[in-house]
Amino acid sequence: MNPYQALGDAGWPVLAALGWQRLKNSSHGDLQHWLACIKAMPEVDPGAKTDCAAPVLGRIVDDPETLRKALLGLHPWRKGPLLLGGVRIDTEWRSDWKWKRIAPYLELEGQQVLDIGCGNGYFGLRMLGVGAKLVVGIDPTMVFVMQWLAMQKIEPTLNNFVLPLGIEHLRAGTGNFDSVFSMGVLYHRRDPLEHLQRLKKLVRPGGQVILETLVLAGGAEEILQPKGRYARMRNVHVVPTLSVLLTWLKRAGLVDVQVMDVSKTTPDEQRSTAWMTFESLQESLDRHDPSLTVEGYPAPVRAALLVTRGYR
Ligand SMILES: C[S@@+](CC[C@H](N)C(=O)[O-])C[C@H]1O[C@@H](n2cnc3c(N)ncnc32)[C@H](O)[C@@H]1O
Repeated sequence: MNPYQALGDAGWPVLAALGWQRLKNSSHGDLQHWLACIKAMPEVDPGAKTDCAAPVLGRIVDDPETLRKALLGLHPWRKGPLLLGGVRIDTEWRSDWKWKRIAPYLELEGQQVLDIGCGNGYFGLRMLGVGAKLVVGIDPTMVFVMQWLAMQKIEPTLNNFVLPLGIEHLRAGTGNFDSVFSMGVLYHRRDPLEHLQRLKKLVRPGGQVILETLVLAGGAEEILQPKGRYARMRNVHVVPTLSVLLTWLKRAGLVDVQVMDVSKTTPDEQRSTAWMTFESLQESLDRHDPSLTVEGYPAPVRAALLVTRGYR
C-alpha cells in the first residue's frame, strides 16, 4: 500500500508520486529482509505523543520482545531516542540534544516543512510536537526509510513523511515550504554553494532555512577538504570556518543569519548502543588527543544557523 497517499491528498501529489515510485522500484539487497521485519511487528494500538525528547508512538504492546526483535532487524538506528509500542530505542545519537539547542529559536506552528537528510524522521516528529502542520522528510538511505515505515505502521495518520529521495531529486519548481531544514548534509555535498542556492529556492519568500553543519573552530578564512576520510566518514567533502560559511550564505543570497549554536560533538552525544552496534565517535577520535580525529584533523564541531529568506 502506498504510504504517501496522505501526502498527495495534503497537496503534495508530485512529491508523493516520486517517493512512491522510488520506494516501489528499489532494488536494495536488504529490502526483502526489512519488509519481513516490518511485517513481523506485532499489532500496536496507536497513541502518539511527539512533544517530548523520546517521541512515543503506539501504546505498550503485550509482546514487547517480538516487537523489539522486529525493530532490531532495521539496524542501525541512528536518530532518536524513540519509544515505539513501549520499546525504548536508544539510538546512536542523542538527537534530542541537537533539538534542544535549536528549539528555542524555532516558530513552526501551522507550517509546512521540508527536512533534507531527515534520517528516520525523528526531527519531523519533534516538529509536529511544536505545532508544524506537515513535514516532508527526504533521505536517500533506504534503511532509514524502512524505520519510518515501521513507525508509520504504528501511527499511520501522523503528518510526518520520509521519502527515499536526495535533494538532487527535487525538481525545479518544488518549493514554497515555510521552513527548510538541512542538518548534517552540507559537508556531504561536493558543491556546498550549489546546495545553499537550492535551499533558497525550496523555501518561500520570507520563510526560514535551518542549516546545521560541521565547522572548523577559529575565525580564519579557511576550509578543510579532507584527503580520504574525516572522523572515519568517507564522504565529507568540505568543512568551512563559520566565517567562510557566512560568506557562502551571502553569495547564495541568504543574508539574514542568526547563529543559534556552535557545539563540539562529544562521545556522550554520538555513541554505539544496542541499537547501533557499529563503531561511533569514540573510535573516530585520536586516543591520546581527543581534540583530533584519528586522521589528525580537528575533532567535529557543529554550527546551527537560522537564516531568513528575503522577498527577492
Ligand atoms: C549526518 S546525517 C544527518 C541526519 C539528521 N538530519 C541530523 O541532523 O541528525 C546525514 C543524512 O543525510 C542523508 N543524505 C546524504 N546525501 C543526501 C542527499 N543528497 N540528499 C538528502 N539527504 C542526503 C544521509 O542519508 C543521512 O541520513
